[in-house]
Amino acid sequence: MKALILSGGKGTRLRPITHTSAKQLVPVANRPILFYGLDAVRAAGIEEVGIVVGDTHREIRAAVGDGSSFGLRVEYIRQEQPLGLAHAVKVSHGFLRDSPFVMYLGDNLIPDGITDLVHEFEKGECDAQILLAHVPNPSAFGVAQLDARGRVLRLDEKPRKPKSDLALVGVYMFDSTVFEAVNAIEPSGRGELEITDAIQYLIDHGRRVRSHVIHGWWKDTGKLEDMLEANRIVLTSLERRVEGSVDAESQIEGQVVLEKGARVEASVLRGPLIVGSGAVIRASYVGPFTSIAADCVIEHSEIEHSIVLESSQIVGIGARIESSLVGRNVRIWRGEARPKAYKFMVGDSSEIHLS
Ligand code: G1P
Repeated sequence: MKALILSGGKGTRLRPITHTSAKQLVPVANRPILFYGLDAVRAAGIEEVGIVVGDTHREIRAAVGDGSSFGLRVEYIRQEQPLGLAHAVKVSHGFLRDSPFVMYLGDNLIPDGITDLVHEFEKGECDAQILLAHVPNPSAFGVAQLDARGRVLRLDEKPRKPKSDLALVGVYMFDSTVFEAVNAIEPSGRGELEITDAIQYLIDHGRRVRSHVIHGWWKDTGKLEDMLEANRIVLTSLERRVEGSVDAESQIEGQVVLEKGARVEASVLRGPLIVGSGAVIRASYVGPFTSIAADCVIEHSEIEHSIVLESSQIVGIGARIESSLVGRNVRIWRGEARPKAYKFMVGDSSEIHLS
């Protein structure tokens, strides 16, 4: 089995972060989301991985390299235009050849992994295997309609009137019959070759498409709320590890990961949370479900349920910051100068919420 990991796309729903960073590299518990997918693939016993990349290919290459640090052999496949998931399969034919493969969307997070499902598929009893999950907002996904025996009847991409609450999870398994499907289908209304349509083609042509409803937690991290939720879930599974320095005036409560080289002074840290190496937390409160990346400074401030990327500084913000995603090298601080006013230098598509 090979794996195809999709890591293109524009990440419009995570702007402005994705103006300068690939959405798959936005960190959850201080690790890019994409890395969890690579781990899951490796844990399932797969070693050969093709990563489909678009405009952000340089960053993805810089982060993953040749894959050896994950125990993988990684090749990069360039998709010049984001023309859909089925198009990504099409351009990957040279890499996949006639091997069965798992296709994993690089912004999906499945903490329970995919090992059992890959093994099931490896038995060769079907041509395609899809994962489904019950969701409250099916219109945001591909949606499956099953018959009484659980067989897939129909799949619709982001239907306005969904026929069920079963969303297609961003992990699919195929054998080489999928190439016939991706070559036969036409672009959808949004101008993309939809993998949903390719699977429908397989069903319509009598191929064996098996579905599995997963009951564990799953997230497509396209939006801020999803990122924060993913961060919450992953942080909860971390074990306490305090390797940085903590002074006598500070209190560390619960599941806290403090990386080597991080410093905590006169502060309260209430886990689950993670603080990266070189970060300094001074005279502050860092609350549950927070990831502070390497080399950040949090001083005289309060923050919880948030993600802060590398080398950012939050200084003098006494009102609690929560449910926030702060990019790299950002400075948020309170000064004493008059007039007392808010001053911003904010990138395109940023969002500031004061209350
Ligand atoms: C894609 C698929 C959709 C699937 C979803 C899962 O949507 O087109 O069928 O349910 O991934 O993450 P996208 O995230 O590209 O909007």
